[in-house]
Amino acid sequence: ETYTVLLPAAGSGRRMGAGFNKLFLEMAGKPILIHTLDVFEQDPDCSGMILSVKDEEKPKIEEMLERFGITKVAALVEGGAERQQSVAACIDAHRSGGIVLVHDAARPFIKRDVIRKLVEVAREDGAAIAGVQVKDTMKVAPDGIVEETVDRSKLWAIQTPQAFRYELLKEASDKAEAEGFLGTDESMIVERLGHPVKVVESTYDNVKMTTKEDLLFGEVLLKQRRQEDFQ
Ligand code: CTP
Ligand code: MG
Repeated sequence: ETYTVLLPAAGSGRRMGAGFNKLFLEMAGKPILIHTLDVFEQDPDCSGMILSVKDEEKPKIEEMLERFGITKVAALVEGGAERQQSVAACIDAHRSGGIVLVHDAARPFIKRDVIRKLVEVAREDGAAIAGVQVKDTMKVAPDGIVEETVDRSKLWAIQTPQAFRYELLKEASDKAEAEGFLGTDESMIVERLGHPVKVVESTYDNVKMTTKEDLLFGEVLLKQRRQEDFQ
Protein backbone atom coordinates (compact mmCIF):
# COMPACT_ATOMS: atom_id res chain seq x y z
CA GLU A 1 0.00 0.00 0.00
CA THR A 2 1.43 3.35 -0.97
CA TYR A 3 1.70 6.49 1.11
CA THR A 4 3.15 9.99 1.04
CA VAL A 5 5.48 11.08 3.85
CA LEU A 6 5.46 14.61 5.28
CA LEU A 7 8.75 15.54 6.97
CA PRO A 8 9.13 18.63 9.15
CA ALA A 9 12.80 19.67 8.87
CA ALA A 10 12.56 23.37 9.69
CA GLY A 11 13.71 23.30 13.32
CA SER A 12 16.83 24.90 14.70
CA GLY A 13 18.14 22.08 16.90
CA ARG A 14 18.59 24.27 19.96
CA ARG A 15 19.00 21.37 22.41
CA MET A 16 21.70 19.77 20.26
CA GLY A 17 23.77 22.91 20.71
CA ALA A 18 25.58 22.63 17.37
CA GLY A 19 24.85 26.26 16.49
CA PHE A 20 23.00 25.20 13.33
CA ASN A 21 20.16 22.90 12.29
CA LYS A 22 21.06 19.52 13.85
CA LEU A 23 19.74 17.73 10.74
CA PHE A 24 22.96 18.81 8.96
CA LEU A 25 25.15 16.99 11.50
CA GLU A 26 26.73 13.90 10.02
CA MET A 27 26.69 10.30 11.18
CA ALA A 28 28.93 7.92 9.25
CA GLY A 29 29.60 10.60 6.65
CA LYS A 30 25.95 11.42 5.90
CA PRO A 31 23.74 14.19 7.30
CA ILE A 32 21.02 13.02 9.71
CA LEU A 33 18.43 14.41 7.29
CA ILE A 34 19.70 12.15 4.51
CA HIS A 35 19.72 9.08 6.77
CA THR A 36 16.01 9.70 7.38
CA LEU A 37 15.15 10.43 3.74
CA ASP A 38 17.03 7.29 2.62
CA VAL A 39 14.56 5.10 4.51
CA PHE A 40 11.72 6.46 2.39
CA GLU A 41 13.75 6.68 -0.81
CA GLN A 42 14.33 2.94 -0.50
CA ASP A 43 10.80 1.98 0.49
CA PRO A 44 8.92 1.03 -2.69
CA ASP A 45 5.61 1.81 -0.94
CA CYS A 46 6.59 5.46 -0.46
CA SER A 47 5.29 7.40 -3.43
CA GLY A 48 6.57 10.83 -2.48
CA MET A 49 8.02 13.10 0.21
CA ILE A 50 7.07 16.64 1.16
CA LEU A 51 9.60 18.50 3.32
CA SER A 52 9.16 21.73 5.21
CA VAL A 53 12.39 23.65 5.52
CA LYS A 54 13.63 27.08 6.49
CA ASP A 55 13.77 29.41 3.51
CA GLU A 56 17.44 30.18 4.00
CA GLU A 57 18.31 26.47 4.20
CA LYS A 58 16.48 25.52 1.01
CA PRO A 59 19.46 25.81 -1.40
CA LYS A 60 21.69 23.75 0.89
CA ILE A 61 19.03 21.06 1.22
CA GLU A 62 18.37 20.96 -2.53
CA GLU A 63 22.06 20.44 -3.07
CA MET A 64 22.13 17.61 -0.51
CA LEU A 65 19.19 15.83 -2.17
CA GLU A 66 21.07 15.95 -5.45
CA ARG A 67 24.37 14.81 -3.97
CA PHE A 68 22.89 11.85 -2.08
CA GLY A 69 20.51 10.76 -4.84
CA ILE A 70 17.20 11.50 -3.10
CA THR A 71 14.67 11.59 -5.94
CA LYS A 72 11.23 11.31 -4.34
CA VAL A 73 10.91 14.84 -2.91
CA ALA A 74 7.78 16.27 -4.55
CA ALA A 75 7.89 19.63 -2.74
CA LEU A 76 10.04 21.70 -0.39
CA VAL A 77 7.73 24.07 1.45
CA GLU A 78 8.49 26.80 3.95
CA GLY A 79 8.31 25.76 7.61
CA GLY A 80 6.92 27.82 10.47
CA ALA A 81 7.98 28.93 13.93
CA GLU A 82 6.35 25.88 15.56
CA ARG A 83 6.61 22.26 14.46
CA GLN A 84 2.84 22.08 14.02
CA GLN A 85 2.98 24.96 11.54
CA SER A 86 5.76 23.26 9.62
CA VAL A 87 3.62 20.12 9.39
CA ALA A 88 0.58 22.20 8.36
CA ALA A 89 2.58 23.63 5.46
CA CYS A 90 3.28 20.07 4.25
CA ILE A 91 -0.37 19.07 4.69
CA ASP A 92 -1.53 22.05 2.61
CA ALA A 93 0.98 21.26 -0.13
CA HIS A 94 -0.37 17.70 -0.52
CA ARG A 95 -3.45 17.41 -2.68
CA SER A 96 -3.91 13.82 -3.69
CA GLY A 97 -5.57 12.19 -0.64
CA GLY A 98 -4.63 8.64 0.32
CA ILE A 99 -2.56 7.79 3.36
CA VAL A 100 -0.03 10.31 4.67
CA LEU A 101 2.66 9.71 7.26
CA VAL A 102 4.04 12.55 9.36
CA HIS A 103 7.61 11.78 10.40
CA ASP A 104 10.25 13.85 12.21
CA ALA A 105 13.24 14.37 9.95
CA ALA A 106 15.28 13.89 13.15
CA ARG A 107 14.30 10.17 13.50
CA PRO A 108 16.56 8.27 11.10
CA PHE A 109 16.11 4.80 12.66
CA ILE A 110 12.49 4.06 11.84
CA LYS A 111 11.98 0.50 10.66
CA ARG A 112 10.21 -0.47 7.46
CA ASP A 113 7.92 -3.01 9.15
CA VAL A 114 6.62 -0.37 11.58
CA ILE A 115 5.87 1.93 8.64
CA ARG A 116 4.02 -0.85 6.86
CA LYS A 117 1.90 -1.63 9.91
CA LEU A 118 1.06 2.07 10.46
CA VAL A 119 -0.09 2.46 6.86
CA GLU A 120 -2.21 -0.67 7.10
CA VAL A 121 -3.93 0.41 10.32
CA ALA A 122 -4.47 3.98 9.07
CA ARG A 123 -6.07 2.62 5.90
CA GLU A 124 -8.50 0.57 8.04
CA ASP A 125 -9.17 2.97 10.90
CA GLY A 126 -8.04 6.43 9.80
CA ALA A 127 -5.31 7.14 12.35
CA ALA A 128 -2.32 5.15 13.67
CA ILE A 129 0.68 6.33 15.67
CA ALA A 130 4.00 4.70 16.59
CA GLY A 131 4.78 4.19 20.26
CA VAL A 132 6.61 2.05 22.80
CA GLN A 133 5.54 1.01 26.27
CA VAL A 134 7.24 3.06 28.95
CA LYS A 135 9.97 1.28 30.90
CA ASP A 136 10.26 3.49 33.94
CA THR A 137 7.83 3.87 36.80
CA MET A 138 5.68 6.91 36.08
CA LYS A 139 4.48 9.33 38.74
CA VAL A 140 2.47 12.53 38.68
CA ALA A 141 4.46 15.08 40.67
CA PRO A 142 3.47 18.72 40.22
CA ASP A 143 6.19 20.95 41.69
CA GLY A 144 8.26 17.84 42.44
CA ILE A 145 5.86 16.44 45.05
CA VAL A 146 4.45 13.01 44.25
CA GLU A 147 0.70 12.94 43.95
CA GLU A 148 0.24 9.47 42.52
CA THR A 149 1.89 6.59 40.67
CA VAL A 150 0.31 5.90 37.31
CA ASP A 151 -0.44 2.38 36.08
CA ARG A 152 2.47 1.90 33.70
CA SER A 153 0.86 -0.90 31.72
CA LYS A 154 -1.44 1.54 29.94
CA LEU A 155 1.18 4.19 29.18
CA TRP A 156 2.87 4.58 25.82
CA ALA A 157 5.72 6.90 24.85
CA ILE A 158 4.64 8.22 21.48
CA GLN A 159 6.96 8.73 18.52
CA THR A 160 6.57 9.43 14.83
CA PRO A 161 5.61 8.23 12.22
CA GLN A 162 1.96 9.06 12.70
CA ALA A 163 -0.25 7.89 9.82
CA PHE A 164 -3.63 9.25 8.76
CA ARG A 165 -6.16 9.27 6.00
CA TYR A 166 -5.34 12.57 4.35
CA GLU A 167 -8.85 14.07 4.62
CA LEU A 168 -8.93 13.40 8.37
CA LEU A 169 -5.53 15.01 8.98
CA LYS A 170 -6.41 17.99 6.80
CA GLU A 171 -9.65 18.59 8.72
CA ALA A 172 -7.81 18.30 12.05
CA SER A 173 -5.08 20.67 10.92
CA ASP A 174 -7.49 23.30 9.60
CA LYS A 175 -9.54 23.17 12.81
CA ALA A 176 -6.46 23.48 15.03
CA GLU A 177 -5.30 26.46 13.06
CA ALA A 178 -8.68 28.19 13.10
CA GLU A 179 -8.92 27.71 16.86
CA GLY A 180 -5.32 28.56 17.68
CA PHE A 181 -4.73 25.10 19.22
CA LEU A 182 -1.12 23.99 19.39
CA GLY A 183 -0.48 20.30 19.99
CA THR A 184 2.79 18.47 20.47
CA ASP A 185 1.95 15.85 17.86
CA GLU A 186 -0.54 15.31 15.04
CA SER A 187 -2.47 12.73 17.04
CA MET A 188 -3.56 15.46 19.47
CA ILE A 189 -5.25 17.50 16.76
CA VAL A 190 -7.02 14.39 15.44
CA GLU A 191 -8.06 13.31 18.96
CA ARG A 192 -9.78 16.71 19.28
CA LEU A 193 -12.11 15.71 16.45
CA GLY A 194 -13.24 12.75 18.54
CA HIS A 195 -11.68 10.34 16.08
CA PRO A 196 -10.10 7.21 17.60
CA VAL A 197 -6.33 6.83 17.19
CA LYS A 198 -4.61 3.44 17.34
CA VAL A 199 -1.12 2.89 18.73
CA VAL A 200 1.18 0.62 16.74
CA GLU A 201 4.09 -0.86 18.65
CA SER A 202 7.40 0.57 17.44
CA THR A 203 10.99 0.03 18.61
CA TYR A 204 13.01 1.68 21.37
CA ASP A 205 15.75 2.57 18.91
CA ASN A 206 13.47 4.91 16.91
CA VAL A 207 15.03 7.82 18.80
CA LYS A 208 14.74 11.48 17.93
CA MET A 209 18.21 12.97 17.59
CA THR A 210 17.79 15.69 20.20
CA THR A 211 20.92 16.03 22.35
CA LYS A 212 24.61 15.12 21.97
CA GLU A 213 24.06 11.74 23.69
CA ASP A 214 21.66 10.73 20.93
CA LEU A 215 24.45 11.12 18.38
CA LEU A 216 26.59 8.59 20.27
CA PHE A 217 23.68 6.19 20.41
CA GLY A 218 23.09 6.80 16.69
CA GLU A 219 26.67 5.86 15.78
CA VAL A 220 26.32 2.61 17.72
CA LEU A 221 23.04 1.77 15.98
CA LEU A 222 24.52 2.44 12.55
CA LYS A 223 27.49 0.22 13.31
CA GLN A 224 25.20 -2.56 14.52
CA ARG A 225 23.05 -2.32 11.40
CA ARG A 226 26.09 -2.43 9.12
CA GLN A 227 27.19 -5.64 10.86
CA GLU A 228 23.72 -7.12 10.42
CA ASP A 229 23.91 -6.34 6.70
CA PHE A 230 27.10 -8.37 6.40
CA GLN A 231 25.65 -11.44 8.10
N1 CTP B 1 10.64 21.19 13.25
C1 CTP B 1 10.10 21.96 12.21
N2 CTP B 1 9.71 23.26 12.46
C2 CTP B 1 9.82 23.79 13.69
C3 CTP B 1 10.36 23.02 14.75
C4 CTP B 1 10.76 21.72 14.49
O1 CTP B 1 9.99 21.49 11.09
N3 CTP B 1 9.44 25.05 13.89
C5 CTP B 1 11.10 19.82 12.97
C6 CTP B 1 12.58 19.57 13.30
O2 CTP B 1 13.40 19.95 12.20
C7 CTP B 1 12.61 18.07 13.59
C8 CTP B 1 11.18 17.76 14.09
O3 CTP B 1 10.38 18.91 13.77
O4 CTP B 1 12.86 17.30 12.43
C9 CTP B 1 11.15 17.46 15.57
O5 CTP B 1 11.50 18.62 16.31
P1 CTP B 1 12.69 18.71 17.36
O6 CTP B 1 13.31 17.38 17.56
O7 CTP B 1 12.20 19.48 18.54
O8 CTP B 1 13.79 19.59 16.55
P2 CTP B 1 14.22 21.09 16.77
O9 CTP B 1 12.99 21.91 17.04
O10 CTP B 1 15.06 21.46 15.60
O11 CTP B 1 15.14 21.00 18.06
P3 CTP B 1 15.04 21.89 19.42
O12 CTP B 1 13.63 21.72 19.92
O13 CTP B 1 16.07 21.30 20.33
O14 CTP B 1 15.35 23.30 19.01
MG1 MG C 1 11.79 21.56 18.82
